Amino acid sequence: MIATLGSDARARALAKDFPILAQATSRGKRLAFLDSAASSQKPQAVIDSLVHYYTHDNANIHRGVYELAARATEHFEAARAKVAHFINAAEPAEIIWTRNVTEAINLVSYSWGLGNLKPGDAILTSQLEHHSNLVPWQLLAAKTGAELRFIEVDEHGIHQLDDLDERLRGVKLVALSHVSNTLGTIAPLETIIPKAHAAGAVVLIDGAQSAPHMKIDVRALDADFFGVSGHKMCGPTGIGFLYGKRALLEAMPPFLTGGDMIKRVQFTTTTFNEIPWKFEAGTSNIADAIALGAAVDYLEAVGMDWIHAHEQAMTAYALERMRELEPLGLTLYGPPNPADRSGIVSFNLGDAHPHDVASILDTEGVCIRAGHHCTMPLMEKMGWTATARASFYLYNVEEDVEQLIAALRKAAQIFKLG
Ligand code: ALA
Repeated sequence: MIATLGSDARARALAKDFPILAQATSRGKRLAFLDSAASSQKPQAVIDSLVHYYTHDNANIHRGVYELAARATEHFEAARAKVAHFINAAEPAEIIWTRNVTEAINLVSYSWGLGNLKPGDAILTSQLEHHSNLVPWQLLAAKTGAELRFIEVDEHGIHQLDDLDERLRGVKLVALSHVSNTLGTIAPLETIIPKAHAAGAVVLIDGAQSAPHMKIDVRALDADFFGVSGHKMCGPTGIGFLYGKRALLEAMPPFLTGGDMIKRVQFTTTTFNEIPWKFEAGTSNIADAIALGAAVDYLEAVGMDWIHAHEQAMTAYALERMRELEPLGLTLYGPPNPADRSGIVSFNLGDAHPHDVASILDTEGVCIRAGHHCTMPLMEKMGWTATARASFYLYNVEEDVEQLIAALRKAAQIFKLG
């Protein structure tokens, strides 16, 4: 009956790598961290990498000739090679360090979008998108006169592709999240990307909720741009990256300008550096990039296929257990088939506000997110004010689900549901 049994023992062992998870809450409750879609916890190896860098290697990169500077540069560029390998990019030069996916998308919007879109063109995204993969396109459409179009989703948040060919007419850019941060829907990229290319569009994928949880192969996907946030994949906050195909990146003007992104500057003109440095103006986030490399080492040692399988089993198990609460007024959202979704479960409990539900869960040591999840248009389409959201990662175990279920029962009692 219990779907997670196969992977639970290993997840329990892995959880010990994350020192923060060992603590009890101020109320003396075991911590059940079910908010990794917002930000993941960090293994000791990543924390150690940060401490080691500042203790032994700290110096600016690409500038000094002394040993410390050479070592910092070497580790920084080695981290770039690690993340390139992690998503199977053809070469490290196709990886641009950014703060997060938001910055990666803004980079593409300004550097690629402003020069490639004009009135009569269209941008195609979906109704599922996080504001970070919507607001930049709204602004770009307003600036260039391009039209903003949407792939619709059904009541479960599943992409409706019957009229995709028609919607792709005149589209120059398709921008989609790989996995929905609100409903966990895995986008059918294997269908959409070839059709987008056949229609002459460039494809950007927001990988914030996929890269931490499943094996990514940007070349097999044939994505033109792919954004990743480090803090959702065991890395530090403030570091992420944009993957872009070499030919596209080379043709794009820089986004930010200043030091390090230049080859030669004269009083009135500048020759820009080669990719990736052309897009990395100013002193980079060196320590965090190196620590993201440590996070990649950690995830690869665990195995991305294992992580994906564990999370799908956890999700199937959580959905099964949460369905027991339907008589108490619990409503589950998202694709009904666990195979179509990642480790994200959005729900509501009767007509209780999800913030109140999340506060009661907090008193039981259960950390979830509640609100619009930065997807206000999706909420509006679905007719929801907000949802509560539990999300899983490699360190979650059955006990976390048990604790969630018990806390939800307590919330139902408080709200006199059922
Ligand atoms: N995008 C993050 C989330 O979905 C913050 O919670």
